[in-house]
Amino acid sequence: MQQHVDLSPIVEPLLAWYDQNKRPLPWRDEPSPYHVWISEIMLQQTRIEAVIPYYERFLKACPTVASLASIDDEKLMKLWEGLGYYSRARNLKKAAIAMMQEYDGKLPADYRALLSLPGIGPYTAGAIASIAFGLPEPAVDGNVLRVITRLTADESDVTKDATKQRITAALRSIYPQNAKDAGAMTQALMELGERVCLPNGAPRCEDCPLGASCPARAHNLTDRIPHRTPKKARNIQDRTVFLVMNNGKVALRKRPDKGLLAGLWEFVSTEGRLALEAVPDWLKEYGIEAEEIRPIPQATHIFTHVEWHMTGYLVLCRKADLQKNLCWVTRQQLEREFALPTAYSAQLRALEQFWDGET
Ligand code: ADE
Repeated sequence: MQQHVDLSPIVEPLLAWYDQNKRPLPWRDEPSPYHVWISEIMLQQTRIEAVIPYYERFLKACPTVASLASIDDEKLMKLWEGLGYYSRARNLKKAAIAMMQEYDGKLPADYRALLSLPGIGPYTAGAIASIAFGLPEPAVDGNVLRVITRLTADESDVTKDATKQRITAALRSIYPQNAKDAGAMTQALMELGERVCLPNGAPRCEDCPLGASCPARAHNLTDRIPHRTPKKARNIQDRTVFLVMNNGKVALRKRPDKGLLAGLWEFVSTEGRLALEAVPDWLKEYGIEAEEIRPIPQATHIFTHVEWHMTGYLVLCRKADLQKNLCWVTRQQLEREFALPTAYSAQLRALEQFWDGET
């Protein structure tokens, strides 16, 4: 981009627009540092409408830093079940523990100190600093990058850290110095990106308070900006998933502590695509003697870097000495206590149909 674009003319029209157009959102009612923190972590990678019920339930179960620092891990995963990117939840607890030890059970009112806490990167530190503490710190997420690159006709690659840093610095130099407007500025930029300066060829430039002076609009560049280098293709992994049933209970096991979906529960499963004939021998290794094996629908789940293509079987078994980290779980336990990742929602549906038919 042009190295020294002056962004100061956007501040006033943007704040005026935000004042008139801001949505009522639960974390805006009472923007305490704790509320802003929890909402911003949930809003990373997740849509606002999907976050709201999780946010409300989370705060009921865990209303303070102290309660988060001492929450049971299984309960924490259950509260996060379905939101994805579970390390976000684990880092929340780690950061809460650090706040209890180092900051008197509070979030520190300082950008650098926030940045040093687990799970808090430049975006989240900026959001908490400005929205909760009124400090003049920008929070640059994908929405803000889109708004600013279009307003400055900047075709540099927004996936690069250098681009983010340059835009953060340009914004920091024009941020309002009073507490109320600093927080409003952060949310105004995000909100404009979410509701007006939309991606994928659909910007609503006619509704934009900055449209009259936007070069991307004037020169028809909104399809090209923001520019990003194409993502690497996802790695496709075949898996076979077993709903192993005995006496109305299903076998679950805990995933390893590290890696994809670390520490969550899952159905018995293996890499690769196992044909029906090969299933009994594979299960025997786990101490499971299959009596009846029924195929269930194939399913795909897309993660950020991996795609699971899943074959599945419902296995009724007579005898099973569950080995290793497996355990039998009732329907009620699965609903109330065990966090199962969304990756298995197709198999969970098949299991619920089986349970519905059984009872
Ligand atoms: N997206 C992420 N955080 C937000 C916030 N505080 N307001 C509006 N949109 C957001």
